[in-house]
Amino acid sequence: MSQNKQNVGVIGAGVMGERMMNAIRTHDKFRVAAISDASADRAQEAAKLSGDVPWYTDYKTMLEKEELDVIYLAVPPKFHHAIALDVLAKKKHLLCEKPLANSLAEAEEMLAAAKDAGVVHAMNFPLYYQAIFPELRSRLEKLGTIRRIDILTHFHQWPRPWQQTPWLSGREQGGFIREVLPHFTHLTYALFGDLQVVRSEVEYPADPTLCETSVSAYLRLADGTPITINGLAGIGHQEHLDYRIYGTEGTLSVVNWGNLFVGGNGEAPAAVEIQPLDRLSLLLDELSIALAGGEARLVTFETGVKVQRVLEDLLGEE
Ligand SMILES: NC(=O)c1ccc[n+]([C@@H]2O[C@H](COP(=O)([O-])OP(=O)(O)OC[C@H]3O[C@@H](n4cnc5c(N)ncnc54)[C@H](O)[C@@H]3O)[C@@H](O)[C@H]2O)c1
Repeated sequence: MSQNKQNVGVIGAGVMGERMMNAIRTHDKFRVAAISDASADRAQEAAKLSGDVPWYTDYKTMLEKEELDVIYLAVPPKFHHAIALDVLAKKKHLLCEKPLANSLAEAEEMLAAAKDAGVVHAMNFPLYYQAIFPELRSRLEKLGTIRRIDILTHFHQWPRPWQQTPWLSGREQGGFIREVLPHFTHLTYALFGDLQVVRSEVEYPADPTLCETSVSAYLRLADGTPITINGLAGIGHQEHLDYRIYGTEGTLSVVNWGNLFVGGNGEAPAAVEIQPLDRLSLLLDELSIALAGGEARLVTFETGVKVQRVLEDLLGEE
């Protein structure tokens, strides 16, 4: 193992933590140096997969004891804020999962703390590192005037069968608005700039502890272009995600994350083959550039705050 690798301390070894650790383990600029998870079993198992690195159930002890360059934070959203502030107080670089926080105030405080600490701060929005992103960007000018962006997120079951952790079904920090819409909010922001919620209607089940089952929302880009969000969970239809940009000269659509459909004037959109990229590895490449003081293509906490504002407005939160 190279001596020059940056030491990553991982906080949260769940579904996403494990995915990112797989990318770190095979990356030439980073190594998993220590792991902390509230569950000893998870921490121990992930530590074994990482070459028997030290593991902890208390991240504060890990931060005290280990020589770490950067922290990757992948715990449920309501814990991001408190842990991030502890990490930033230690002046560690921080790669944080989306959504940045569990409220706008928390997100803003995290951004301020990251700026004070003078560290690299970044978030994991995988679509930004997918081949789909440059494809969309390069094809935008052929669309003519953009008339509308429609974002459809439909789920047969929420949480999805592969994501059966209790926090995802709870109103406090779960739901598909917080979990899935950050990706499409960020994609819109990255392609078109600022967006604002004009109105949003959210439906909830009778049980006050359970997350939303539907959202119908209307937003606008800074130039007035409308955006609609149609989100629904608990329907007969299988999961279906469609991010669709309508122009006067054509249509672009991203279906189920990775499938691009392109239509010209008067045409039905047809599938266009694109090769998927190793998106987590590309994010780590950029992080490595930033840690070396270079200009990197990262999504910073500044953008994380903008995305958070949209999420909170969709949910009608202060
Ligand atoms: N970027 C993406 O594509 C993507 C995909 C899925 C999830 N996520 C995000 O990643 C984060 C984690 O999601 P997940 O699906 O991995 O959740 P998960 O429930 O599978 O895992 C979370 C882990 O954090 C641990 N944990 C909880 N509180 C802790 C604490 N205080 N200290 C240490 N460990 C703690 C839990 O024991 C668990 O192992 C969330 O913010 C989620 O929105 C991002």
